[in-house]
Amino acid sequence: MKVAVVGSGAWGTALAIRLCKNGHDVTMWTFEKELIPQMEQERHNIRLPGAVLPEGLKVSGDYACVSGCKLVVVAAPSFPIRSVSRGIAPFLDEDAVLVSVTKGIENGTLLRMSQVVAEETGRKVVVLTGPSHAEEVALDVPTGCLSACEDRELAEFVQDAFMSETFRIYTSPDAVGAELGAALKNVIALCAGVTDGLGCGDNTKAMLMTRGLTEMARLGISMGAQKDTFAGLAGVGDLIVTCTSMHSRNRRAGILIGQGKSVKEAMDEVGAVVEGYYAAASAYALCKKQGVEMPIVTAAYQCLYEGLSAKDAVHALLGREKKPEQEDAGWL
Ligand SMILES: NC(=O)c1ccc[n+]([C@@H]2O[C@H](COP(=O)([O-])OP(=O)(O)OC[C@H]3O[C@@H](n4cnc5c(N)ncnc54)[C@H](O)[C@@H]3O)[C@@H](O)[C@H]2O)c1
Repeated sequence: MKVAVVGSGAWGTALAIRLCKNGHDVTMWTFEKELIPQMEQERHNIRLPGAVLPEGLKVSGDYACVSGCKLVVVAAPSFPIRSVSRGIAPFLDEDAVLVSVTKGIENGTLLRMSQVVAEETGRKVVVLTGPSHAEEVALDVPTGCLSACEDRELAEFVQDAFMSETFRIYTSPDAVGAELGAALKNVIALCAGVTDGLGCGDNTKAMLMTRGLTEMARLGISMGAQKDTFAGLAGVGDLIVTCTSMHSRNRRAGILIGQGKSVKEAMDEVGAVVEGYYAAASAYALCKKQGVEMPIVTAAYQCLYEGLSAKDAVHALLGREKKPEQEDAGWL
């Protein structure tokens, strides 16, 4: 099948390699045209060191490369997702299936990534997400992801395209939960990094992850997501991988902030896209809009955008009024 992967960052590259290995005819669109000669000749992309680009993988700097493709995977970061989707729209085939693998919530509109892609292209969009470091997928490390779409046929089409012996894809009708899990866990991972940087322990991180998951599900349910999705690959699965690994840019940025670097210094030092930074602003706006309590997201927002120190944020969270763990604790 003819496939285009739109975006040549670490994740687009890893997925393009996977799709090539699955026997598809793949072209990867790149924003960084200056990297094309190196990718074509040395079969290497600086965005994903250590991975070899298969001989069959083509690279293009032209949006028209999506024409004739039956599957188009949008793999740009969240901030240019709208311009990239607008760019490919005129070249899409009538029956092309679109997939969004970007993790974020658009600043301002507060739309999920698949909604932005759908708005710009006029198509239904499948969400592919889960606990998946590009570095590991490129090396065929066994990995599980979720193909989510309310249209079962489309979710299964994407499952078939990506599934391999080492890349196991499950399906779900809950694109809302899958996408909110993907975006919000980056905010919690940034906070987990902050606690690591401050020198807190494993107990702190376990509390943060667990209470973070509660917040994620609370917001998700208020927006129509299924609670169970947050107990799956797109929720707790992705939260675990992001909060505990040094592959995670969000966690690494948080560690630097916890160690006393400014937000800008931390972003510059990580060097790649830190989606949790953008997602924190959207998540904070969304929890206000939905009237949902999200203390960790609020603390993250105040740290990243309002100058609250990491130490003060932790004290503020620990000093909140006492309460039962579950909102429906069951007591009369
Ligand atoms: N890296 C991973 O392991 C991983 C895994 C799952 C999902 N994701 C998600 O995939 C998305 C992409 O992340 P990544 O890790 O591939 O990013 P990356 O930091 O590796 O690369 C960023 C890419 O964005 C491109 N870019 C910069 N400005 C642009 C613009 N104005 N228009 C279009 N492209 C532009 C750059 O050329 C670069 O190729 C993110 O939403 C991320 O959360 C990443």
